[in-house]
Amino acid sequence: MSSVAERSLIANQMTRRDVSTLLDMTREMTRREAARLIGGITASCLWPIGAAGAQSKNESTTMLTRPIPSSGEKLPVIGLGTWQTFDVDPAQSAPLAEVLRTFVKLGGRLIDSSPMYGRAEQVIGDLLTKLKLRDSLFLATKVWTRGQQAGIDSMERSFARLQTKTIDLMQVHNLVDAETQLQTMREWKAQGRFRYLGVTHYEAGAFAEVAKILARAKLNFVQINYSIMERDAEEKILPLAQERGIAVIVNRPFGGGDLFHRVRGKPLPDFAAEFDCTSWAQFFLKWIVAHPAVTCAIPATNSVQHLDDNMRAGFGRLPDAKLRQRMIEAITNL
Ligand SMILES: NC(=O)c1ccc[n+]([C@@H]2O[C@H](COP(=O)([O-])OP(=O)(O)OC[C@H]3O[C@@H](n4cnc5c(N)ncnc54)[C@H](OP(=O)(O)O)[C@@H]3O)[C@@H](O)[C@H]2O)c1
Repeated sequence: MSSVAERSLIANQMTRRDVSTLLDMTREMTRREAARLIGGITASCLWPIGAAGAQSKNESTTMLTRPIPSSGEKLPVIGLGTWQTFDVDPAQSAPLAEVLRTFVKLGGRLIDSSPMYGRAEQVIGDLLTKLKLRDSLFLATKVWTRGQQAGIDSMERSFARLQTKTIDLMQVHNLVDAETQLQTMREWKAQGRFRYLGVTHYEAGAFAEVAKILARAKLNFVQINYSIMERDAEEKILPLAQERGIAVIVNRPFGGGDLFHRVRGKPLPDFAAEFDCTSWAQFFLKWIVAHPAVTCAIPATNSVQHLDDNMRAGFGRLPDAKLRQRMIEAITNL
């Protein structure tokens, strides 16, 4: 199945009888052949992105990526947040296994956590080990404490909970005791325990502090809030990140979910078709990742259906500057 259009057609036209014929056929095959065939069809049913992608001139079958400026390593533009959504009893994590499996299947890589997110790191670590997904993911977590020894203890716990020897990105959560934690982080990066370093915040009120640290410390990443209704990062943080060669992770891309309340019951503007957008979630995410300074956005969800929707934002065309402005007006005038 070579193109999105073909996969989409098959997924949409298969009847129950086709499925049962397919199952009969697989009885004649080796287990490996059957698994490959069923896996391909399942992915097609789950992912008929052709509805938008196949009809556009820029049909894409893999997710858009952006290079991390300090290394050139490419990251898919849609990642996964875990605040609240992954803070569950590990015995109840089966639905999240499906979320993670689907995330990787649809081309996702970066997953963001923190010791502040309750059981999230532990749940991620257990699932990665169980599903053998460690090598498919770019693991980002944080340190959120004061004092050198407390920072060391916290980061050691993150390694243990995530069940990994290397954490791809370690970030200072909300700039808490940043200078102290960055000292240890730099040492551990030199030892190969971390691949990249960064800082995070989630409020525009902290952007002056974030800008100061971006200007003086040598960082690979910054993580901040940015969405169609929270655009403060455009003033200083995004231009500074571009100038300093710092990758940008966008948190709270849906304003913590508030954006969905704003558009509830409202139809998507017709012009959304011009950038292969079929839902409000894609509208919000495409608006963000179309900014040239943004490396990836990390929407959080514990629903496979929402994840599927969000991941589609990483395919097809993105809005240009003019369309992005029109999108702001459309939301403001709702
Ligand atoms: N200081 C920091 O470092 C910091 C601060 C804030 C956030 N973060 C990171 O950024 C991540 C994202 O931010 P966030 O979790 O605050 O908020 P968010 O991603 O803006 O919004 C999450 C909410 O949107 C809903 N949602 C997701 N996809 C949807 C879809 N397709 N349709 C409808 N609803 C959808 C989710 O509900 P469902 O689960 O029902 O889908 C959830 O209630 C966090 O999880 C965390 O990893 C970091």
